[in-house]
Amino acid sequence: MKKYFQHYLLLSIAALLINACASSSFDDIEVDEEPTPEIVTYQDVKPIIDGTCLSCHSNPTQNGAPMPLVNYNNVKEALLDRDLLNKISKNEGEDGLMPLGGPRLPQSSIDLIAKWNTDGLLEN
Ligand code: HEC
Repeated sequence: MKKYFQHYLLLSIAALLINACASSSFDDIEVDEEPTPEIVTYQDVKPIIDGTCLSCHSNPTQNGAPMPLVNYNNVKEALLDRDLLNKISKNEGEDGLMPLGGPRLPQSSIDLIAKWNTDGLLEN
């Protein structure tokens, strides 16, 4: 009887472990970002800006932000004339990092905005 119990216990532990592995690798797949589009346009960049910058860079602006980032021209101008790419690429905790007060954007979002720049800052 005792032996059966030990077997049962081992099997249960094995099942739990297998389950844990299976679900964690499933999570890894789940968190994968969407594939980078071949040509990045403002449409790909907008959701990032909307989600992380508009709490201050709205129109009218809030919390002392100097300009809005609500449309294509705003964001394009900020990238060309206001050092936007450099501001989002600073290290966590570094002076001037945007979004102000952090946290830093995920690297994939920074890369996407950089690619928008090299792809020619297209609107659509
Ligand atoms: C909590 C408020 C806040 C958030 C969120 C925020 N900013 Fe700012 N931003 C500011 C303030 C205040 C300034 C002006 C002071 C400074 O440059 O540190 C500024 C300045 C900037 C500047 C420089 C403007 C200039 O002419 O010098 C850029 C570019 C910028 N922000 C981009 C962004 C981007 C892109 C995001 C989102 C990823 C963002 N900010 C999120 C508050 C914010």
